[in-house]
Amino acid sequence: MSENSPFKQDLFAGHVVAITGGGSGINLGIAKVFASLGASIAICGRTQSRLDEAAAQLRDLGARTFAQVADVRDPAAVEAFLTGSEASLGPVDVMVCGAAGNFLVPAEKLSPNGFRTVVDIDLMGSFHAARAAHAQLVKTRGLILFLSAAQSYMPHAYQVHAAAAKAGIDAMMRNLALEWGRFGIRVNSIAPGPIEGTEGLSRLSDPNQREALVQSIPLKRLGQMQDVGQLAAFLASPAGSFVSGAMISCDGGQALAGSAPMNATISRLLASPL
Ligand code: COA
Ligand code: NAP
Repeated sequence: MSENSPFKQDLFAGHVVAITGGGSGINLGIAKVFASLGASIAICGRTQSRLDEAAAQLRDLGARTFAQVADVRDPAAVEAFLTGSEASLGPVDVMVCGAAGNFLVPAEKLSPNGFRTVVDIDLMGSFHAARAAHAQLVKTRGLILFLSAAQSYMPHAYQVHAAAAKAGIDAMMRNLALEWGRFGIRVNSIAPGPIEGTEGLSRLSDPNQREALVQSIPLKRLGQMQDVGQLAAFLASPAGSFVSGAMISCDGGQALAGSAPMNATISRLLASPL
C-alpha cells in the first residue's frame, strides 16, 4: 500500500499497535496498514500457526512484531499478552479489540451457551483487552478501537447474539470515552460493512447472492480490508485527535438501506424466511 497511501510512510514510526484477533481477516488488514506506516505490531489469537504466519507477513512489511496465543475470554491470558507486548515492543499506543466469533442461527434455536460464547468473546473479550491496556495507554495517551458491526444498532436476522455483543461494545466504547478522556485516552469503534475475503462475510452471506449484495450497497462494491485499516490509521493519526466516543461505519453506505437486503440473503442461506 505504501506508494498509494494517503498517509506519510513513517506516520506511526515508534508507535505500538496491539490487536486481539490480529492473525486474520480485517484485524490483520488493520495490522498491515499500521505496519506499512512504521508501527510495531502485537497480535493475539487462539491459534499459534495463524499468528506465526501473520507475524511473518507483518515483518515483511518492516514491522517489529510480538505474537502470543491468548483467548480473549481469559483475562489473565490477555494481561499476559499485553505485558509481553510491552516488554518486547514498548507501551501500546493503539489497542484494537477485534477478536470475535459469529454464526447465523434463529434465536429460538440458539442455546444459552451459544449466546454466552459470542458475548464472552466479543464483549467480555473487548473489555478484558481495554482494561489490560489501560495502564499502557495512560503512558502513551493512546487510542482504543473496538470492532463493531451494523448489528449493534440495527436488527439483522439470526444475529441476536452478535447484536447483543456488538451493542454492548458500543455502549462500553462511549462509557470508556467518557471516563478515560481524563487520561488523554480516546475510544472509538469502527463498524465495517461487508468486507471481501473475510470469515465474517462468508459466514453471513450466500456467495451465490454476492451480486445482489453488492447492488444493495450505495457505492456498489464490497469493502476491502485496507478500507478499514485506513480508517483506523486516520483515527490513530493526529488528524483524528479530537475524535472520541464515536462509532464510525465503513460500509459504502450499506446501512442506509436498512438490514432488509442482508436479511433476504441470510434467509435464503438458512432456507428460513423471516
Ligand atoms: N449455530 C448454533 N450454535 C452454535 C453454532 C452454530 N453455527 N456454533 C457454535 N454454536 C454453539 C455451540 O453449540 C455451543 O453451545 P452448546 O454448548 O449449548 O452446544 C456454543 O455455541 C459454543 O460452541 P463451541 O464450538 O464450543 O465454541 P468455541 O469457543 O470453540 O468457538 C465460535 C466459538 C462458536 C464463535 C466459533 O464459531 C469460532 O471460533 N469463531 C471464530 C471465527 C469467527 O466466527 N469469525 C467471524 C467473526 S465475525
Ligand atoms: P476473522 O478473520 O475470523 O477474525 C476473527 C479473529 O479473532 C480471528 O483471527 C480469530 O483467530 C480471533 N478469535 C476468535 N475467537 C477468539 C478468542 N476467543 N480469543 C482470541 N482470538 C479469537 O473474521 P473477520 O470477518 O475478519 O472479523 C474481524 C472483526 O470485524 C470482528 O470483530 C467482526 O465482528 C468484525 N466485522 C466483520 C465484518 C466482515 O465483513 N467480515 C463486518 C462487520 C464487522 P483464532 O480463531 O485463531 O482465535
